[in-house]
Amino acid sequence: MTEATRTNDRADSDESRYLGITRSSYDKVAGAYAELVADALDSRPLDRALFGAFVEMVETAVRVGAEIADIGCGPGHVTAHLCGRGANAFGLDLSPEMVAVARRRHPDIRFTEGSMTALDLADGSLGGVVSWYSIVHTPPTSLPTVFAEFHRVLAPGGQLMLGFKAGERLRHLDHAYGHDLSLDVYWMPPDRIAALLEAAGFTVDSRVIREPGEAERAAGQGRQAVLLAHRSTEPQEG
Ligand SMILES: C[S@@+](CC[C@H](N)C(=O)[O-])C[C@H]1O[C@@H](n2cnc3c(N)ncnc32)[C@H](O)[C@@H]1O
Repeated sequence: MTEATRTNDRADSDESRYLGITRSSYDKVAGAYAELVADALDSRPLDRALFGAFVEMVETAVRVGAEIADIGCGPGHVTAHLCGRGANAFGLDLSPEMVAVARRRHPDIRFTEGSMTALDLADGSLGGVVSWYSIVHTPPTSLPTVFAEFHRVLAPGGQLMLGFKAGERLRHLDHAYGHDLSLDVYWMPPDRIAALLEAAGFTVDSRVIREPGEAERAAGQGRQAVLLAHRSTEPQEG
């Protein structure tokens, strides 16, 4: 076995390990998590405004009715918000239990199981990708794979909206949402995420960094980031 094969095998097994742990953790907490975030957007006018702008950008840059995937959708409240704005959105999540909860809560919307590391979606098939706090469990070494997948499935002009915790920190959770589990949570510097998106072929259009609200600050949360980016309409090299 060559050194390169050994390195690839190690990366593959690290990836399947974090995917397995993340999947089983969210399977445990799906119901409790859904309750917690059901009305989260009601108190987030800035996020709602950004989702509205995003839907409009997809319609302008690709076409009205172009599909938007909410990747790492959890219980589907963001997917439902996008649909409520007239978008043709569906949800995808790693956790079968999250997908089941999302289907129960939003029976008119399509939800599927899958991983952002290897999307079962055709090249260039989407007008938009939303990843709302769903890369927060992805080890930074796997982010290039994820961003390459987002880029691959977007049509030329397709739009990406990425929400995540700004900063530079790794926290391991053994207990959350009333359950024992095992989750790594990553805070990432927005400039580093922007650089990785550009390396994957995206043009970064906007970086919104907001301060934590009072409740977030009390819970030890810091700044929150939303990056908007798009896949070029020019033919890609290679
Ligand atoms: C913090 S929750 C966010 C859920 C939802 N987007 C929200 O804003 O409430 C993270 C979600 O990402 C999903 N997730 C984590 N890694 C994933 C992956 N590789 N592919 C698809 N979904 C993933 C988890 O199962 C979980 O539902």
